[in-house]
Amino acid sequence: KQLSELPHPAGRIPVLGDVTSVDRHKPTQHETELTRELGPIFQRLLLGERLIVVGGAKLASQTLDERNWGRALVGPLAKLREVAGAGLFTAKTKDPLWGQARRILTPGFSQAAMRAYHDAMSSVAADLSAQWAKTPTVDVHQDMTAATLEVIGRAGFSQRMGLLGDTGQAVTGTEEFLGALGRALTWASESTNDLPVIGPIREMLSAPGRHRDVATARRYVETIIEDRQRAGDVDTTDLLGLMLSTPDPETGATLPLDNVRDQVLTFLAAGHETTAALMEVALYELAANPDVADDLAATELAGGPEFSYDEVVKLRRVKAFINECLRLWPPAPGFFRVARTDQDLGGYRIPAGRGVFVLSLAAQRDPEVWGDDAHTFRADRFVGERLTASSEKYFAPWGTGPRSCIGRQFALHETTLLLGALISRFRLQLADPAAALSMRERATLRPEPFTIVATPRR
Ligand code: HEM
Repeated sequence: KQLSELPHPAGRIPVLGDVTSVDRHKPTQHETELTRELGPIFQRLLLGERLIVVGGAKLASQTLDERNWGRALVGPLAKLREVAGAGLFTAKTKDPLWGQARRILTPGFSQAAMRAYHDAMSSVAADLSAQWAKTPTVDVHQDMTAATLEVIGRAGFSQRMGLLGDTGQAVTGTEEFLGALGRALTWASESTNDLPVIGPIREMLSAPGRHRDVATARRYVETIIEDRQRAGDVDTTDLLGLMLSTPDPETGATLPLDNVRDQVLTFLAAGHETTAALMEVALYELAANPDVADDLAATELAGGPEFSYDEVVKLRRVKAFINECLRLWPPAPGFFRVARTDQDLGGYRIPAGRGVFVLSLAAQRDPEVWGDDAHTFRADRFVGERLTASSEKYFAPWGTGPRSCIGRQFALHETTLLLGALISRFRLQLADPAAALSMRERATLRPEPFTIVATPRR
């Protein structure tokens, strides 16, 4: 069948198309509802531009096959190039700097590197615990922003960010950086869902503010890099050290300084917003279901609150719990894939070069593969579950292929360690027991701020 025959939302208007079905503020949550109504693949036509959304697990799995499908730099990702330039996340795969940076940085995400980052990550868990012990009413959004930024700063750049614990030796300007970054993410997300006529006008009007924000963000990361160069301490193995001192094993070239700047900015953005989103979902579920946390504290985490590198690796139930958070609320709710050759998706012909939006948020809740309780949070769903590439259960919170998340092990070690430490030290409750989890979209899917109360266990 032809693409024009794909199901589409009700209320199509001549010329304009499916404009009434656009939700500028919660686009992927709305598309997930549309998947339930319209089926595993549907279209949305806006002024003649057709977006194809794939929300069924089986069809989504088909697009993960690298032989037939590749990655596309479109949507919010393309808009973020304005801020993150040729950093890993936003570089085109054919840009030689992408391969060069990926090769130089890969050792920075090895098992040996995680072992080396462990103490820096533990120091953040300790600072956060000390803060909660003093002030039990916790603004989760604020504290997870602080914790995840401190982790990437302390472990990745040997730099304190001034958001937690002793702020004496920290870089200044982190709050301004966060403000600028937040506005850039909001713009990238919202402008992607602008109508074709309104988009360029809004883009023009917001340009001066956006340029100011980009300049603020760049100045901040340049300070971090210059401080490190001035200290003469570049010949080390954290991420910044690798970028400043290591030649690419393939070409022998080191990264140009403006690319190092784009990479540092990318790691600060990609490394904190997504990880904070995951931590917030996890803390919400723990606070809403204290029995789950009590059970973990009494069993797997009984030896806490401090865990060595090897102990963190073995926290299987905490990791299963994290996977369930990533399944229901993937911080990256979807990504674009492009057909390398003509493809058949659910009986529709997708011509070579055509992009589709793969909606993980819907596919990871597809009852056809995840069962009738697909929409329910089940803390132990992943215990003993071994998902492989051939598994029909679509689960792709880290993306797929050569452009998948380089920070996956980093984020997993960090969140397992932080949750292990926090659960074993504190009993968590929602400050407002009736508070529902509400997700906002800013290129990532992240909970709206909420408050919990943390009571020491012993
Ligand atoms: C790429 C998710 C944490 C750095 C990606 C992609 C996804 C993702 C889905 C692929 C996007 C696409 O195909 O367009 C996540 C999630 C995280 C997380 C869910 C946490 C829960 C991190 C951390 C870092 C990081 C902690 C760095 C320390 C990156 C980078 C890329 C990437 C640099 C681009 C890789 C490339 O294209 O070569 N991430 N990420 N991420 N992530 Fe993560």
